[in-house]
Amino acid sequence: MTVSAATRKKAESLRDLIRHHNYRYHALDDPEIPDAEYDRLMRELQALEAEHPTLIAPDSPTQRVGDAPMSAFATVRHELPMLSLGNAFSEEELRDFHHRLLDRLELEEDAELRFAAEPKLDGAAVSLLYEDGLLVQGATRGDGNNGEDITHNVRTIESIPLRLVGKGFPRRLEVRGEVFMPKAGFDAYNDNARAAGEKTFVNPRNAAAGSLRQLDPRLTAARPLDMYAYSVGVVEGGDLPTRHSEIIDCLQKWGIKTCPERRVVSGVDGCLGFYADIGARRDDLSYEIDGVVYKVDSLEMQRELGFVSRAPRWAIAHKFPAQEELTEVEAVEFQVGRTGAVTPVARLKPVFVGGVTVSNATLHNIDELHRKDVRVGDTVIVRRAGDVIPEVVSVIESRRPKGSRRVQLPTECPVCKSRVAREEGETVARCTGGLFCAAQRAEALKHFVSRRALDIEGFGAKLIEQLVASDRLKNPADIFQLSKDELSELARMGEKSAENLMRSIDISKSTTLTRFLYALGIREVGEATAAGLASHYGRLKNVVSASEEELQKVADVGPIVAARIRAFFGEEHNLEVITRLQEYGVEWPEADPVELAENGVLAGKTFVITGTLPSMTRDEAKALIQSAGGKVTGSVSSKTDYLVAGEKAGSKLSKAEKLEVAVLDEGGLQGLVSESSS
Ligand code: IVH
Repeated sequence: MTVSAATRKKAESLRDLIRHHNYRYHALDDPEIPDAEYDRLMRELQALEAEHPTLIAPDSPTQRVGDAPMSAFATVRHELPMLSLGNAFSEEELRDFHHRLLDRLELEEDAELRFAAEPKLDGAAVSLLYEDGLLVQGATRGDGNNGEDITHNVRTIESIPLRLVGKGFPRRLEVRGEVFMPKAGFDAYNDNARAAGEKTFVNPRNAAAGSLRQLDPRLTAARPLDMYAYSVGVVEGGDLPTRHSEIIDCLQKWGIKTCPERRVVSGVDGCLGFYADIGARRDDLSYEIDGVVYKVDSLEMQRELGFVSRAPRWAIAHKFPAQEELTEVEAVEFQVGRTGAVTPVARLKPVFVGGVTVSNATLHNIDELHRKDVRVGDTVIVRRAGDVIPEVVSVIESRRPKGSRRVQLPTECPVCKSRVAREEGETVARCTGGLFCAAQRAEALKHFVSRRALDIEGFGAKLIEQLVASDRLKNPADIFQLSKDELSELARMGEKSAENLMRSIDISKSTTLTRFLYALGIREVGEATAAGLASHYGRLKNVVSASEEELQKVADVGPIVAARIRAFFGEEHNLEVITRLQEYGVEWPEADPVELAENGVLAGKTFVITGTLPSMTRDEAKALIQSAGGKVTGSVSSKTDYLVAGEKAGSKLSKAEKLEVAVLDEGGLQGLVSESSS
């Protein structure tokens, strides 16, 4: 079959593009495009070459793994090449993989293979050579055949042993694994770099790769790196078990760190179960992963299956949906929030990212917008990780259309036309319209009915916007004056839903002081502060009449928050709304104020809270502890007195157990507080 000139040209330009991105990614540690886009380019080229094998050139990016190592490091030739992995992006592709295995192994259709299943760590591959138990060489993967000598850098990573422990290890043993930067270390590193005006890392993977490629080992040593081993290379002068999983167990035994999440599973269903389980816990893991890897556990079968080009036939990476994608900015608009904050939002060409279709992404504030210089028509990287609000990560400047203009902060509120003001030193610009601004009114009402506030079920955003637009809702008290007839007249609201809504409104009237204070939407008063105020004062009238000085005795309330609270209750119209709410029947149990926190039963004790508690939010638990004089911090250390752990507690729980810190559940915490206060 002859290949047309156009196809040849297409392949060549794809190769050039991939080479460019390889260079950015491997040599510079500064990728321009998200991985998903790179994967797509690579797949496109692979498909083209598969269709026209005469197109394959020895220097095609499909024929090797990475790019050439940098000249400043000595080159290490890998005695056994370091391979890459094929990918599966769907269940179907996983089933195909399993079928191919059964075919090649000449096994029955319904046979179930045993797999070693492991998270796919998002860091940089390394090879560590141990001779007679001593670490003699560390190397990067490089292009798979030749890597860079980074012995001086791997030696600085504390979790990599310089000498193996125990006995029975082969005389020469090459351990392979992933060096990565845990999420917490990555965040802390970037916070510091930002504060010092230095360059930050785009993601933990680049952080790990960049840190390993330092000529000065002191720089590497200062980076919070870690490593998990996932395979072996050269093995001489000794035997290893005949299953992959058991080999990894041996490494673990000899003091090499391996991933605690690895499992042995059976068949496609076992693989899918592992994928779902790790996927659900992905955000709680302390390190970044981009999928899971399944490896045929039996080495005998692995040998029988062999390799295709640079990847083993016996393993596959099952990827999670990409968390970063490319799309275009169709418009940049400004939204007005509850407190008047004017926030820029990018309206995007819809794109599937992080498992959902995203068409809006926050730009945080005007400084952020200007720093990233996002313009209409730009191609941008959007990121959506876990339940975090999608955001624009960066602009691909090379794709910027000609004649685009920088976006400016509007001088008037896009909703009410009041002046937009930005105070000295403030990052946030605000609409000065206050409750005259329909947007601020609507947002204040949405906050009032929200789940953590009065929790009026079925009172959606659209409904509030309609009622605000028609002037039937001006403030929260008006909610309790709405009639069923009035509601059922509204668009998309039937008789039945109007009835249900009336019932939810009625139910919401019995609430708690914490929820009520939070619902009022006082600036700077979040749930934790509301809970602190409620337990400190016990009664609303005590909060209303407290002086600024008095208020500062409440845990977490400083001069700024105290001034906001005073200002709120100093406004006659706010007090009127509160009186009306109480007249319509909004009520909560009032209590006697608790003793002053300094003398509280938990005074001098330090707590950490983790996981999901059965009935309290973490903020509520925090407020409870603080109101009893305890201190709440973010991470477990030897100074921690108690860890309050709920469901899905992760690394903090294991750390607490290791340090023998007392662990409480929600009941235990409540017991501790009430026991000592009675
Ligand atoms: S096994 C023969 N296991 O993914 C297969 N690789 O695309 C060799 N990776 O370069 C790799 N986690 O850096 C394997 N549990 C894991 C992994 C893993 C991350 C990386 C590794 C490799 C790349 C392959």
